[in-house]
Amino acid sequence: MAKDVIIACDFASADETVKFLDRLTRIRDEVVKCDDITVIPRPFVKIGMELFYAEGPQIIKTLKDRGHKVFLDLKLHDIPNTVKKTMKVLGEYGVDMVNLHAAGGIDMMTAAKEGLMLGAARLAEKPKLIAVTQLTSTDEETMHRELLIDRPLDEVVKQYALNAKEAGLDGVVCSAFEAAAIHEACGAGFLTVTPGIRLTKDGSDDQKRVMTPKEAKEAGSDYIVVGRPITAADKPNEAYSACLEAFK
Ligand code: C5P
Repeated sequence: MAKDVIIACDFASADETVKFLDRLTRIRDEVVKCDDITVIPRPFVKIGMELFYAEGPQIIKTLKDRGHKVFLDLKLHDIPNTVKKTMKVLGEYGVDMVNLHAAGGIDMMTAAKEGLMLGAARLAEKPKLIAVTQLTSTDEETMHRELLIDRPLDEVVKQYALNAKEAGLDGVVCSAFEAAAIHEACGAGFLTVTPGIRLTKDGSDDQKRVMTPKEAKEAGSDYIVVGRPITAADKPNEAYSACLEAFK
């Protein structure tokens, strides 16, 4: 997978999602040949828990049939056997990227990868499995006070990324501010998928630390996840094009 912009489709229903995506046409020079038909790729999209639980697996089929790549952001965290069996189901859906919590440990992540590959056996391009290191809503103070983790946040994030790599995962969800350190620890090929992106520095909503697409590119992010700066823009097409242009 090449560097790309992933649009976070944080909508409440399939209808709303499809209506929004209908308004977007992908502006890029890249086309792919598929069975002698030239296809202009649709945007890579992220589906979160709200939309998946509201609409069920049909939403994945709807978006895949329309030509979108799909990152299913369900952040699994359970015992290894349960996660393995669940990942097998998600692999069968044909998702392109899926994630779990690194806090579940190496055994859980290894089992997840096995399950996902079993489910995706028929797919030529295997889905990427990505670990969430620390939620950006958890700061160092919360880790110390509530979770009794007394190490510095950046050390914890780095160790979780190393654990994910040991388990055979493809990368992590992290802040673009952490991308360089993770690449240094885990190698340049280990993917960093980074939310917390804003087109300008004004108005970061509830995101604590933000970067622009250009800054994220310079920081080494492999994928940027962009929600409201595109979905809530007056001109989503222009916002999406600006992200692509600055990042790719
Ligand atoms: O609208 P905005 O660009 O802030 O959306 C960012 C997306 O990335 C949301 O879907 C959010 O749930 C997700 N995300 C995040 N921070 C993380 C993990 C996921 O913002 N650490």
